[in-house]
Amino acid sequence: MARKPEPTGPRHVAIIMDGNGRWATKRGRPRLFGHQAGARRVREIVSACPDFGVDYLTIFAFSTENWKRTQTEVAGLMSLFRRYIIKEMQQFVAENVRVRFIGDRARLDARLRGLMDEAEKMTGHCTGTNLTIALNYGGRDEVARATQRLAQDVAAGKLDPADVDEETLPKYLDTCLLPDPDLVIRTSGEARISNFLLWQSAYAEYEFIDTLWPDFTAEEFGKLVGNYGGRDRRFGAVKA
Ligand code: IPE
Ligand code: IPE
Ligand code: MG
Repeated sequence: MARKPEPTGPRHVAIIMDGNGRWATKRGRPRLFGHQAGARRVREIVSACPDFGVDYLTIFAFSTENWKRTQTEVAGLMSLFRRYIIKEMQQFVAENVRVRFIGDRARLDARLRGLMDEAEKMTGHCTGTNLTIALNYGGRDEVARATQRLAQDVAAGKLDPADVDEETLPKYLDTCLLPDPDLVIRTSGEARISNFLLWQSAYAEYEFIDTLWPDFTAEEFGKLVGNYGGRDRRFGAVKA
């Protein structure tokens, strides 16, 4: 049943979708089987966002460190991303979901990059849930790339170094069009952020849960979103 949107709930939820490999291993199957099951979960969570008042959902699909995995796993994941975009885009348009990607596209193959561009264009007019997929994303890499562009603007005389402040740098980040995440969820029992949204999550609330990503349901998502409403966010100040 659709819940009424929670006015005090998180507007932007980011998820570190972890545990696909262990989910598959537990079943005696190859890791890629877990990634496929994990990809199928994404739709359910995206579709649940409007019910829980979540306007922005950002999901970590592949990190800048994930290239360290075997060639077989990396190639399998890249092929899964391509197939996923081809298969799901029409449905995202039908559900009014706006798709964006963050991360460094330069290292991705041209076919995948083309599909990512197409998905962003196809959903460019959508005004519902903002789904951002972090693909070849690393928080440090993002800050480094942003700094490089900022330095280029300084060198070109477009930006005065004295004007660089907390408002300036985020304009150069991949997430420049997104609000900061209010809630970051990590599945699979690991209590670390693995280089995800480092700058943006400075004041996010965190939920580290044991569920492996392929077992994560809309119901559990709803509970975590609900928990958030009860938290006292002080942003460094003392509550009156
Ligand atoms: C997360 O699941 C998906 C990616 C990092 C691509 P993992 O593949 O990290 O699964 P575990 O942590 O090995 O169980
Ligand atoms: C983080 O998971 C990256 C993604 C979910 C895409 P990892 O499984 O790669 O992180 P570590 O290796 O446990 O830190
Ligand atoms: Mg993992």
